[in-house]
Amino acid sequence: MYDDLLFYHAYEDFYRMAATSPAFAAYCRDAFGEDFSQDGFSDLAQIQQVLPHIPQGKPAHILDIGCGNGKMLGYLQKQTGAFIHGFDYSRQAIQTAKHLFPEHSDFQVGLIGEMDYPAASFDVVTSMDILYFAPDMTGLVAQIKRWLKPDGVFFAGYQEGDVIPKTNSWEESQLAKALQANAMVAEYTDITYQTWQLLRKKRQAAETHRELFLAEKQEEWYQLLMTQTECAASDYEFFSKKYSRYLVVTRKNP
Ligand SMILES: C[S@@+](CC[C@H](N)C(=O)[O-])C[C@H]1O[C@@H](n2cnc3c(N)ncnc32)[C@H](O)[C@@H]1O
Repeated sequence: MYDDLLFYHAYEDFYRMAATSPAFAAYCRDAFGEDFSQDGFSDLAQIQQVLPHIPQGKPAHILDIGCGNGKMLGYLQKQTGAFIHGFDYSRQAIQTAKHLFPEHSDFQVGLIGEMDYPAASFDVVTSMDILYFAPDMTGLVAQIKRWLKPDGVFFAGYQEGDVIPKTNSWEESQLAKALQANAMVAEYTDITYQTWQLLRKKRQAAETHRELFLAEKQEEWYQLLMTQTECAASDYEFFSKKYSRYLVVTRKNP
């Protein structure tokens, strides 16, 4: 059904590998500080910044858009006891998420632009390296605003230079414009330098676990990790001309 969508089969293969590969789990722990089966750039320090936005003392509800196999949500649930919701177009990923986190959770196979939830459902909505897959980013931000409770928070990791081109500043980014069009005021942190450092760490971690990848006959994934991190083999000045990364916190009602 999703066969023609960007990267669909690549993500099915990726989450199939992630479900069974100790080499990839070890790589994630080294590169990111925790194994969330990351395909993106979210390390533990970034995800810990979500925690203060999750209300304590009442049942909180968190939605992760493009949740993959749910491990990031599982971590947030373990820290806060929150009810976790996630959707992703990868059937393989959602199957793993349902298996790993069966309690106080709702994981669904679904497409950005098609999935919907009742208004005022969530205390926090997260989207880590996913907004670029929206056919209409402004429309997705409008949905997120509607899904949030009145005091809810939208937390996003947003990268330029991979799926969408780099702009000259946050103000010029597609996300800043989508938020503005929805009358949402963002606090953003430019973490491009930290991302360059993280990519170098990813490269080092892939190298460290090369033998394990080869022993598992997962050489193609080792090679892919090396190719994906080639951009960080250059110096930061060169890197920052091609890439930007922002962490963005937006309150529904500022
Ligand atoms: C770059 S990965 C990020 C995954 C995870 N959030 C992370 O930080 O590692 C993009 C995720 O979005 C999912 N995805 C891509 N396009 C999608 C779409 N149109 N609808 C729903 N999910 C999609 C992929 O399966 C994948 O899990």
